[in-house]
Amino acid sequence: MSEPMIKTEIQGRVGLVTLNRAKVLNALSNELIDEVAQAMRDFDANDDIGAIVLTGSEKAFAAGADIAAMKDWSYADVYKQDYLGHNWESLRRIRKPVIAAVSGFALGGGCELAMQCDFIIAGENAKFGQPEIKLGIIPGYGGTQRLPRAMGKAKAMDMILTARMIGAQEAEQAGLVARVVPTEKVLEEAMAAAAVIASMPLPAVMMAKESINRAYESPLNEGLLFERRNFHALFSTHDQKEGMNAFVEKREAKFRHE
Ligand code: CAA
Repeated sequence: MSEPMIKTEIQGRVGLVTLNRAKVLNALSNELIDEVAQAMRDFDANDDIGAIVLTGSEKAFAAGADIAAMKDWSYADVYKQDYLGHNWESLRRIRKPVIAAVSGFALGGGCELAMQCDFIIAGENAKFGQPEIKLGIIPGYGGTQRLPRAMGKAKAMDMILTARMIGAQEAEQAGLVARVVPTEKVLEEAMAAAAVIASMPLPAVMMAKESINRAYESPLNEGLLFERRNFHALFSTHDQKEGMNAFVEKREAKFRHE
């Protein structure tokens, strides 16, 4: 039997998905993305999980979409299967926080997959890039949209038009990456951050994620209203009562994630 393309594991309240095609630097075939999406959906539906980490190998988070698989596809082939649409897009519907723990190459679809996560923790050896232009294509899973939002137009144009890779420090300074840590610590740091998130009241965590994402999809007025309505809704949860009472009574809160 062939090796599974991903590995999954649960540690405490954190679900871990590890890309497992190291020989081809975790090239992102349709089959691999299907497996990632299924694993994420399972974690999302599991009441005992509060946050998810997605990682690759030390050499590569992922070196992009699988070039060998797509090289002979025609326009009709990619259009009919809605390539990078149906299975990649389903990752956007994961409602619990997802952290990308990135070591090594995060290129093309690999960079886009990392950006699709809620934030990125990078090892010092991480290299981000959108080299699609060298293949006669452009980024196809949000690179032209999420990079300028994360780093501004100048950096996005530079990276996408020249195919220049940037290192972890530059990515952090530009706002693409939340934290840079020694390469051997990247998974540990991401798992620890995910454990902190998973210890927080889940309804508030999910509404915070949803509200922040709204900032990219709506005018300020609508985003502010969306935030305020979620803020109001949280007063109906057990965890709001528990969190505030615990503070006033100077004791540890016991959240039920409801
Ligand atoms: N697809 C398929 N196979 C890939 C791959 C990819 N994206 N990236 C690497 N591989 C394979 C290589 O073909 C090679 O396989 P073999 O051992 O069978 O020859 C193996 O992984 C190791 O790669 P290299 O020998 O090239 O390793 P290296 O250390 O010399 O170079 C690298 C590393 C600079 C990342 C180089 O592999 C590379 O440039 N990869 C392609 C990067 C790229 O162009 N990504 C964009 C893809 S298009 C896309 O992602 C579209 C989108 O928007 C979603």
